[in-house]
Amino acid sequence: MNRIRPGHADNLDECRREAFRLLARGVADPRSPFHTPTLATVGPDGAPSLRTVILRAFDPTLRRLSVYTDARSAKAADIGVEPRVALHAYDAAARVQLRLTGRAALHRGDAVADAAWSSCRAQSRLCYAIEPAPGTPVDAPLPGPDDASAGRDNFVVVAIGVEAVEWLWLSADGHRRARFEWTGREPHATWLAP
Ligand SMILES: Cc1cc2nc3c(=O)[nH]c(=O)nc-3n(C[C@H](O)[C@H](O)[C@H](O)COP(=O)(O)O)c2cc1C
Repeated sequence: MNRIRPGHADNLDECRREAFRLLARGVADPRSPFHTPTLATVGPDGAPSLRTVILRAFDPTLRRLSVYTDARSAKAADIGVEPRVALHAYDAAARVQLRLTGRAALHRGDAVADAAWSSCRAQSRLCYAIEPAPGTPVDAPLPGPDDASAGRDNFVVVAIGVEAVEWLWLSADGHRRARFEWTGREPHATWLAP
């Protein structure tokens, strides 16, 4: 357990800034645990599903996160019916857990998807060209596709409007837990019993 309390740990607004800083680092730094958070969706039958995704963008002003996926995936189907999603990651070195909730929108074949596709590396584009659709049972492991162009139609940007963030910091002299909820521009911020 860490014994040195970081400067932000007693100030709610600083905790919120720190949470946003961790998310921004998650986009920029592949070694950050926030680069590969877990995304939760709810299926049409009410059952939750979890999977690792790569955090591709974070806009702190709009509080919007972006993740890329395949339009044919289960998560895209879930979001199409129930846009409420949750995201989780834990940074073991910093001993910080972030839990986010929000609403997701799917961008397929629009300007948002075009811009993201243009910035995608060739290797990443291949993921969206896989046939048959992700999750389809197959007789044997499939070879990777070698033509990414077929993936363009399947490529979707999942834009998540963040509605609440929970920050938890584990500390030997008392864990700290704070919650931030937005209904307008400014968050409602509160400490929570850990
Ligand atoms: C490190 C890592 C990163 C991943 N990144 C993504 C991603 O950005 N987008 C995505 O759709 N799947 C990603 N996956 C695969 C998903 O975890 C999941 O297996 C796949 O998308 C199927 O999920 P679904 O059937 O729930 O839609 C990643 C997996 C790992 C292990």
